[in-house]
Amino acid sequence: MFTAIQHSVSPFDAERFRRDFPILQREVYGRPLVYLDNGATTQKPLAVLQTIERFYNQINANIHRGVHRLSAESTEEYERARTTVQRYINAQHPHEVLFTAGATAGINMVANAFGDAFVREGDEIIVSEMEHHSNLVPWQMLCQRKGAQLRVWRFDERGELSLDHLAALMGKRTKLLAITHVSNTLGTVNPIAQITALAHVHGVAVMVDGAQGIKHGKVDVQQLDADFYAFSGHKIYGPTGIGVLYGKEQWLSKMPPWQGGGDMVATVTLERTTYNDLPFKFEAGTSNYIGAAGLAAALDYYSAVGIEAATAYEHELLQYATQQLQAIDGLMIIGNADSKAAIISFVQQGVHPYDTGMILDKMGVAVRTGNHCTQPTVDHFGLPGTVRASFAFYNTPAEVDCLVEAVRRARQMTL
Ligand code: ALA
Repeated sequence: MFTAIQHSVSPFDAERFRRDFPILQREVYGRPLVYLDNGATTQKPLAVLQTIERFYNQINANIHRGVHRLSAESTEEYERARTTVQRYINAQHPHEVLFTAGATAGINMVANAFGDAFVREGDEIIVSEMEHHSNLVPWQMLCQRKGAQLRVWRFDERGELSLDHLAALMGKRTKLLAITHVSNTLGTVNPIAQITALAHVHGVAVMVDGAQGIKHGKVDVQQLDADFYAFSGHKIYGPTGIGVLYGKEQWLSKMPPWQGGGDMVATVTLERTTYNDLPFKFEAGTSNYIGAAGLAAALDYYSAVGIEAATAYEHELLQYATQQLQAIDGLMIIGNADSKAAIISFVQQGVHPYDTGMILDKMGVAVRTGNHCTQPTVDHFGLPGTVRASFAFYNTPAEVDCLVEAVRRARQMTL
């Protein structure tokens, strides 16, 4: 019983927090929405929606560009958002926090700017086999551009990576390791602090894809000792179109800008341009300043909910869902690492994942099906895809029961 687990570990009141999310009150096909696709995007609390509305209604003006009152207020809100992110991830300096369009944009920025500055023909980049496409394809593109080699750190059948294998992969020409904090398909939580410690012994920089990791517990970039950490706002209860790239000053100050345009310049003549200081050097064009304020509101909201308590509760949901799903005949869970975030991928013998997803949808249960933008991860298991349920702190044990019931029905209907 879930309640037994819940009472023994944490009296977390998910029902109370659900009321902060208007969309969770809606129905689909006449049934209450059971939203279990939080790995793809999370829902937004009123605190975020109201921040965005207030900004557009009362403050909106372009940042860093006007002498007028609204522009000053907009700029202040934007820079306050940067400080909120800095504190949230415990970056040493606000200028180590770059606003981007999302995790993908941040990783591409590193692949281009770090790549231009530090990667030469014959150098090596290591990626893990469990990367989602955003932390794989930019490195493939960099290697093609530079004539560098991409080396792959493979995971085992449980979905775990071995540090010994990493040690064996690193050599004199290795420049960077690209590694996800949490696998969006397997749920594996990688031991980033141990990984960076090992990589740094070999002089290798580490790019951490925090797309899923940012929502999984407290992220402290100094404790992780990540050289770069990228995440998207929309996966941590914030708006779409805004994200963060954290980079250590020692790297960012040596990297050339990636994109050119307004705000990233100090002086411009027709012949030549000098660049602005950090962080603006990497923020060409009008930034998504309202998105940044929305993201800051999301981080404040999540902190008020209680990051540790929310993560512990999500872990209980994961354990409960794992127990219940494992009891279904012919169901196999993909990804059984010791340390997992609240993500559960599975397949059912004889049932295509898309069919399960479609049937679940008709029962009001939203899950993701397919390769989850991690085709190599799914290929590892020789599968056409998986069904993935991913939880947030506003999910409930009753919703896990709906998932399990719907999965049982899907099996009955398709066999
Ligand atoms: N990477 C996102 C997911 O895992 C889109 O669903």
